[in-house]
Amino acid sequence: MLRITDRAKNVSPSLTLAITAQANKMKSEGIDVVSFAAGEPNFNTPDYIINAAKEALDKGLTKYTPVPGTKELREQICKKLKADNNLDYDFDQIIVSTGGKQTLYNVFQTIVQEGDEVILLAPYWLSYPEMIKFCGAKVVSVDLAEDKCLLNVDKIEKAITPNTRAILLNSPNNPTGAIYDKESLCALADMLKKYPDIWVISDEIYEKLVYDNQEHFSIAQESKEMYDRTFVVNGMSKAYAMTGWRLGYVACPNAQIAKAMSGLQSHQTSNANSITQYASCVGLQGGEEFMANMKQVFEARRNMLFDALQGAQYITVNKPQGAFYMMLNVSGTFGKSYEGTVINSALDFANLLIKNASVAVVPCEGFDAPNFVRLSYAISEADIIKGAQRIKEFASKLK
Ligand SMILES: Cc1ncc(COP(=O)(O)O)c(C=O)c1O
Repeated sequence: MLRITDRAKNVSPSLTLAITAQANKMKSEGIDVVSFAAGEPNFNTPDYIINAAKEALDKGLTKYTPVPGTKELREQICKKLKADNNLDYDFDQIIVSTGGKQTLYNVFQTIVQEGDEVILLAPYWLSYPEMIKFCGAKVVSVDLAEDKCLLNVDKIEKAITPNTRAILLNSPNNPTGAIYDKESLCALADMLKKYPDIWVISDEIYEKLVYDNQEHFSIAQESKEMYDRTFVVNGMSKAYAMTGWRLGYVACPNAQIAKAMSGLQSHQTSNANSITQYASCVGLQGGEEFMANMKQVFEARRNMLFDALQGAQYITVNKPQGAFYMMLNVSGTFGKSYEGTVINSALDFANLLIKNASVAVVPCEGFDAPNFVRLSYAISEADIIKGAQRIKEFASKLK
């Protein structure tokens, strides 16, 4: 009998993409949908990067590059890591991949295998557990929802077992928008020093989107000891509005590990797109104004959405400090009904909301946060106001 693998069968489809597809379908049918489902900045890639891509084509840079990326780009990434994060790397510690997603996948494949456990801090981005499952490893989830989604070192320590191989940190966080500040990361680092066999994967892809005068801090900065066990993951998607270009990278603790990772990638995708690499190298040499403006716009939109949602019945909102996401706790609506249909979960809430109020939000069951839905405010101000108003109206009709 023809069959597909358990691995393929067991992948949970992305709820984010499913809800986005539904919103797009409704839009194409002429329905006025407000979609808070987007996972990408609604800004265009800056012109100087687009021009660099054209230049790459004109220069004929259309051939394979070295698997881990061009030397020029990797050197530029080292300069970025020094300038922004005060971290020193040589170019041969950097692996460039087809988006942060492939970067993370490479990291897991390099350090995690059957029988291992990886600690995720819930709510967490829904691709992590799937990537961990691909490695045959087990996710150990530490629920931080009650800690305002901030680090609770005691809780995390309790989740450690002899099989723990890695812990994943994502700050600023998708989906919570939380930021782990320097103090809490240093406290976590102190605890982790008792467990020298645990790698740290630090996903810093939203690094440039921190508000309220907060500062981004990487746990790799804490000490040489943490540097030696941390993979710093970043990419162009969110900071430079380059989601479709597909470029992510990781700074590895040393060149030997990077070499092993490059070997894995050599049999998957080889190098990341050559034109994207050239454009990203140019991109990393500038863009301060673009990023500062984007951050200012997102901070204003966050305030706008937070204010507009005040007074929504049965719903509570935490004010996030980073990225472009806001979580709504909708557990207060569970057991209530909308025109006779009872809400029993965040998924029910999201389904009823899109059907009856034409507002798309992402239910957070896949983020291991079943009481929440996620809103992305990477949309226009007019839509933020309209969408928040519709959510409030919808909630006011629940019985
Ligand atoms: C937390 C987090 N990490 C990594 C990524 C990967 O981004 P990309 O593959 O576009 O670089 C995303 C994308 O949504 C994300 O939200």
